Amino acid sequence: MRKLISGFSKLTKDEKITWLIENYLQDQSEAENVIKQYWNHQQDLQELHDGFIENTISNFYMPFGIAPNFIINGDAFVIPMVIEESSVVAAASLVGKFWSTRGGFKTTVLGTTKIGQVHFMYAGSQTEIEAYFNKIKTDLFAATASITKNMEKRGGGILDIKLVDKTEKLANYYQLHVTFETKDSMGANFINSCLEAIAKKFETAEIEIVMSILSNSVPECLVRAEVSCKIEELGGENPQKFAEKFYQAVKIATIEPYRAVTHNKGIMNGIDAVVLATGNDFRAVEAGAHSYASRSGEYTSLSHCEIKDGIFKFWIEVPLAIGTVGGLTALHPMAKLSLEMLQNPSANMLMQIIAAAGLAQNFAALRALTTKGIQHGHMKMHLQNILNQFEANDEEKESVTTYFNKKTVTHSAVVAKIQSLRKPKTN
Ligand code: MEV
Repeated sequence: MRKLISGFSKLTKDEKITWLIENYLQDQSEAENVIKQYWNHQQDLQELHDGFIENTISNFYMPFGIAPNFIINGDAFVIPMVIEESSVVAAASLVGKFWSTRGGFKTTVLGTTKIGQVHFMYAGSQTEIEAYFNKIKTDLFAATASITKNMEKRGGGILDIKLVDKTEKLANYYQLHVTFETKDSMGANFINSCLEAIAKKFETAEIEIVMSILSNSVPECLVRAEVSCKIEELGGENPQKFAEKFYQAVKIATIEPYRAVTHNKGIMNGIDAVVLATGNDFRAVEAGAHSYASRSGEYTSLSHCEIKDGIFKFWIEVPLAIGTVGGLTALHPMAKLSLEMLQNPSANMLMQIIAAAGLAQNFAALRALTTKGIQHGHMKMHLQNILNQFEANDEEKESVTTYFNKKTVTHSAVVAKIQSLRKPKTN
């Protein structure tokens, strides 16, 4: 069995790397080169990143791209995107440009309320717990005063605290269901600190607190983004046919969960990329979006389409708990730059930008799927990855790219072409 270790966190970074290499990696000098390549020449940056998490030994770089030409509520935006998948940024850029000449994206924030819960067990009578809650409710607000003071100055704070009886589902189980407004911050730390202060005040010999934690289900922290135009403005050979097939594709995702998951994954390609670029928590956003997509009891599409009176309309409604202050937003230099290129938006504005990016990505995927097929664009981009993997030089890259201009790109066909170029010429 491979070795376990205690006190690992107390080792220096070099000691951690040495231990890792000696016990878990094969080629020691290769591993050391890979690990250290990112921090040898960027000591300051690495030190900054070391502080974000524990046991840092290196960095994991992801491509940072930008998608220009997004018009959102009449204003132009360049959208920063962090993503490893070929063609996502290219698709966003194409779609941004496409809608920029058709009225752009229209976005609205539908709500900003977030939720946290104190989960507790109580075996006594329901009337008694209700009476106790009503008596102590004002004190629960007061118990958070030192935490909520600054948030209240910014217009946020605790909106309400409710007692919820869950004993029908689980014996003795109750909750304090707390609603929050966290303004420009994502608010996770604020919410959790408030909940813990509330729980401490609420606890008695009969009330056993199980846990206090925010919910990543945020159905009331919701944003909508929409595009629309006359069908004939959609362009292409047969815009009516295009609109109808597109509409069918959205309907399929509405009623078929297997398709809905992939459909929404395409939306998350756009959403996560901006969430990451702005230093936000993409796992929270993912969890919230998918729980929203299944709120009816069956998993369904986050986007919707309508064709009425000659107008094509496509829109999305998605919950987004994000922030533009706090967390990594100012600490991570690239997140800071992302926010700067977005004109330092409020959290509300960033929600709208992210929703537009998600809708754009969904439009691009459905347009490709219902016309040329998804592999066409994907493989064209993937071609460059294969060329890089084979360390193709500029001449080889040009020759292979030209060769595949009108041919179907497959991994094996590209490899065969590279090999044929590299074969010594015989005559
Ligand atoms: C791939 O990352 C995303 C798509 O599968 C989305 C979709 O099918 O709608 C292309």
